[in-house]
Amino acid sequence: MDDISSSPASESDLPRTAPKTLMGSLLRQFWHPVALSMDLRAGEAHPLRVLSEDLTLYRGKSGAPHLIGGRCAHRCTVLHTGIVEDEQIRCMYHGWRFNAEGACTDIPAEKRVRPNPPGIEGYPVREYSGLIFAYLGAAPAPEFDLPRKDVFEDEQRSTLVKREIWDCNWFQQIENSMDAVHLGFAHMWGVAGQFGDSVSGGGLLPDLAYEETSSGIRQIATRPNGNVRISDWTFPNNNHIVVPGAKKGGAWAHVSVWATPIDDTSTMRFRLYSTEEKDPAVLERARRDQEFQPLDHVARLFRGALGGLSEQAIISAQDYVAVRGQGEICDRSRENLSASDAGVAFLRRVFLRELEAIRRGRPGKAWSRLREAVHLPAPPQRAVE
Ligand code: FES
Ligand SMILES: [Fe+2]
Repeated sequence: MDDISSSPASESDLPRTAPKTLMGSLLRQFWHPVALSMDLRAGEAHPLRVLSEDLTLYRGKSGAPHLIGGRCAHRCTVLHTGIVEDEQIRCMYHGWRFNAEGACTDIPAEKRVRPNPPGIEGYPVREYSGLIFAYLGAAPAPEFDLPRKDVFEDEQRSTLVKREIWDCNWFQQIENSMDAVHLGFAHMWGVAGQFGDSVSGGGLLPDLAYEETSSGIRQIATRPNGNVRISDWTFPNNNHIVVPGAKKGGAWAHVSVWATPIDDTSTMRFRLYSTEEKDPAVLERARRDQEFQPLDHVARLFRGALGGLSEQAIISAQDYVAVRGQGEICDRSRENLSASDAGVAFLRRVFLRELEAIRRGRPGKAWSRLREAVHLPAPPQRAVE
């Protein structure tokens, strides 16, 4: 890893995602969601940028998704313009063909078969609950276990998936997950949505507690009105919380949010939403609520004009304004952390420990799926008019 420096891991390493950086190496040890299943039909190929790498995501004729390098090994044209042939893809320029592992399997203009034709990268993929996950690290891939949760596999519940693109660094989005104080401010800003109002009890500040678990960090925010909010954060980029459902006063939904870096200044936010709601009309409203994209509304969001947005969109918009407002990549040298940032500091310590292990060539923590049940209580319901 030639880009890895001799000085200890520091906060300047946190935002970086490219191969051969400390964080890029750490992130490549995990499965990440990279696309929505419904966005990729059999026989289609799409360009995809993940962790600062340009890739080609395609779905074979069998229906299986595949992820390989972005450019042809011959003369480097993009491969998403190629033709999918069964489980392989053929470059549109001179017809070189690659399989799902990135190996070249045909060079039509050559009369003799080459023993070792040049290939490209090929990465394992998995589909889970409407999301396509990929592992971009060295073989062998870890078991596909850490991203799983029982609540998202419960057949009595309905799930919805969403992808948002945010034009800023992934790590400040992760830090936002570990910052319970922002609920009483950011989520009351522009318009007091049900989420900010209920969770924060109208703006009450919480006592904060954090503990490291086998899978990540458990965050407990206790407010003076007795409301205890727990979130179950999974290393390195997933948060599991409860949010209001699409029906006012109805059951709260479980939401799992991943921040997958596209590169250092843009992020795909995948959201897996699980509800016990059965009413088709409410489920349809929840599905429509997923259509909101902050980037379509930047100017008005930064003016605080959040009127007319759904509850889910308000949450997303408020987080977007706060986090994008820190800049494309937050300059942490200008910060002044305070008592409210206990979770942010805790999170950074965990990451810096894991980055330092990589720098020293030592094994990091063997993160594993949390086996004990975590109860994520919804706040007491306020009266619904
Ligand atoms: S550039 Fe792909 S076959 Fe020539
Ligand atoms: Fe938030």
